[in-house]
This record gives sequence, structure tokens and C-alpha cells, in this order.
Amino acid sequence: MVVIYETATTLNGFLATEDNSLDWLFAIPGEQPDIRPFMESATALVMGSTTYEWLLDMEDLRDHPEKWQDSVGAHPVFVFSSRDLPLPDGADVRILAGDVGRHLPEIRAAAGDGDIWMMGGGGLAAQFLAAGALDRIALTMAPVTLSAGKPLFSGDARWDRLRLRSAERIGEWARLVYDVTPLTS
Ligand SMILES: NC(=O)c1ccc[n+]([C@@H]2O[C@H](COP(=O)([O-])OP(=O)(O)OC[C@H]3O[C@@H](n4cnc5c(N)ncnc54)[C@H](OP(=O)(O)O)[C@@H]3O)[C@@H](O)[C@H]2O)c1
Repeated sequence: MVVIYETATTLNGFLATEDNSLDWLFAIPGEQPDIRPFMESATALVMGSTTYEWLLDMEDLRDHPEKWQDSVGAHPVFVFSSRDLPLPDGADVRILAGDVGRHLPEIRAAAGDGDIWMMGGGGLAAQFLAAGALDRIALTMAPVTLSAGKPLFSGDARWDRLRLRSAERIGEWARLVYDVTPLTS
């Protein structure tokens, strides 16, 4: 079981525009990365509240909670937030807050033998790195730059303990996978 920060990013390290648009990502022509094999291995999802609310809006899940299973799947979804957020009927969404390390045992237990997909954003990714909770970072880099936006990592995210595991060209995309060296080694 691994905890993976799997995400698309611009060349200059943005996940989305400042107003959370992914139009730049959907506009890239040609062959597209296929992350379905990874998605099938993930048995728990983790994300921050902006990403969760983007997902609710993108898939119209506030008005159509019955679409949750088809859109997201049956696995538990852990959302970090200090707020009360809408919970679609029938969805296994669990709201967490505060120290990431304190919640790791619950997340790992829910994932069982499967992988944990840490979807972002960048602040939560930095918290996972700092807690020693990330095993891998998988980036699908788009041939796009943005002048501003939501960063791939933010906050206290200085980290050089990464080993390149693979690099692959997929059409206009570059997929880069890094292993995170544990703090104890
Ligand atoms: N390119 C891609 O493939 C990709 C992948 C993932 C995300 N995205 C997009 O990138 C953007 C990311 O947005 P974002 O940078 O704002 O990040 P985010 O991680 O989705 O949301 C950040 C928010 O999560 C809550 N939070 C984070 N850590 C917390 C903690 N430890 N305890 C309690 N609450 C915590 C806080 O909000 P509250 O406490 O106020 O709720 C915080 O403002 C979104 O637009 C998303 O759709 C793109």
C-alpha cells in the first residue's frame, strides 16, 4: 500500500487557475494520460475542501447525489476542512481537520491493502510531506504555463528527498513519478 500524490500540473507548478479552473488542462490536444489503472488500485481518496467542492460542482453532485458512485466510486473519501460541507446521500465522505499525522491511522485502516490517492491541493500535499505520509508523487505535466494559480505545493514544502522512479512521454504530456525517501532512512 502506498500513499500517492497523483495530479496533473502545469509546467510551472500550478494545479488550477486562481479561480479553480482546469480549462487549460482539458484543452490539451492529442493522446491523453490514462490513470485508470492507478484509480483502480486506490481504495481511499484524500483531498482538501476546495478540490472536494470543485468535484461536487463539476459532476453536479450537490443536486444529483445518485451520480456519486459513477463519478467517484464506492471508496471512502477523506476531506480536510474546518467547515461543514455538503455530504451527498449515500457517499462515504468523512470530514477531517487539523494535524494530518493524527488522522493517518484512520485513513490507512479505511484503505486496507489498496493505495491512498492524495489528490491535493498543494497545501495538503505539503502537510502530508511534512508528516512523512507521502510515499510517491506522480505528476502528469501539461505543456502549459499559467501566470498565477493554485500551487502544486504550498506552505512549508521544501523537500529534496525525492528519487525519480520513471519518466514517460504521453502525447504532449510528461509523466514523472518520484519516490519520497522516508525521513528515517
Ligand atoms: N490539476 C489537477 O489534476 C488537480 C488535482 C487536484 C486539485 N486540483 C484543483 O486545484 C485546486 C486546489 O485548491 P486549493 O489549493 O485551495 O487546495 P485544497 O487542498 O483542495 O483546499 C484547501 C482547503 O482545504 C482545507 N484544509 C486543508 N488542510 C486542512 C487541514 N489540515 N485541516 C482542516 N482543513 C484543511 C482548508 O479549507 P477550509 O478549512 O476552509 O475548508 C483549505 O483552504 C482546486 O481547484 C482543485 O480542483 C487540480
